[in-house]
Amino acid sequence: MKHIIESQQFKVPRIMDLFERTNFMKKVVARGGTMDYQNKIMASLFYSPSTRTRFSFESAMYRLGGKVLTTEQAREFSSEIKDERLEDTIRIIGNYCDVIVLRHHQVGGAKKAAEVSATSIINAGDGSGGQHPTQALLDLYTIHNECHTVDGLSVAFIGALDNGRTARSLAYLLSKFDRVKLYFIAPDELQIKPDILAHLDEHNINYELTNSTKGILSKVDVLYVTRMDRERLQRKNVKLEEYNITPSVLKQLNKKARILHPLPRSVEISPEVDQDPRAAYFRQTENGLYLRMALLSMIFDGD
Ligand code: CP
Repeated sequence: MKHIIESQQFKVPRIMDLFERTNFMKKVVARGGTMDYQNKIMASLFYSPSTRTRFSFESAMYRLGGKVLTTEQAREFSSEIKDERLEDTIRIIGNYCDVIVLRHHQVGGAKKAAEVSATSIINAGDGSGGQHPTQALLDLYTIHNECHTVDGLSVAFIGALDNGRTARSLAYLLSKFDRVKLYFIAPDELQIKPDILAHLDEHNINYELTNSTKGILSKVDVLYVTRMDRERLQRKNVKLEEYNITPSVLKQLNKKARILHPLPRSVEISPEVDQDPRAAYFRQTENGLYLRMALLSMIFDGD
């Protein structure tokens, strides 16, 4: 596993190894971190904005004892502004570090980088409608932790799903498990794209597409809420409030369900929902630190 580019790369045994390592990293953090990777350097190269992914990767590297080189606005503060090609930037930065965590504004950016890179590339989100595999892995870890299994779960995705790279990456990962049922709840214009459905068909995954939460919320184990693109939805005359999770919507939700969101959120989950024990999204962000430590250590150990 030299590069981490897309969810399809991961098979269930590797995912389970990663989750064990993630549990171990939680203990490492509780005892103040480790210096085991003090000779390693991570470059975080972000061409588009991020709070969670960049900070958690950088924190993960410090907790492992390593060092960080970073630019958070690479479109402005790297030589892209002088028309340098991504491939050249990657070749150069790869000389100075052991892993590059890349968020690129174009779909396929991470793949393009990996094609020329002798240094490991981790895709930290590529474009709108690409993938975000480390987010999906931490989402799946959270589901596994909270529900104690993945096999047999019903998971509903809700939001603007067409370009949602986190929903796309998580759907790919869930397709590897047995007897999962997926619901995609979105206005017709913003539904999950056919490439994901073709993949689910290939893997005999049971799924339903719907534009309403009616009759679904009481049946699901996990409600995976994603950002609504307000500007785009208003243009399409979509009634946003039908897709918002509010205390009254919570009444219809299965009592044992968990609510996840990759964050940042806008209006799609009201702050009143945060107090509900089913709201797992802040625990999910904490898990991102441990899981990213586990991923980095796997790469450094050559596992
Ligand atoms: N979930 C996620 O990718 O958040 P950021 O954009 O803040 O990194």
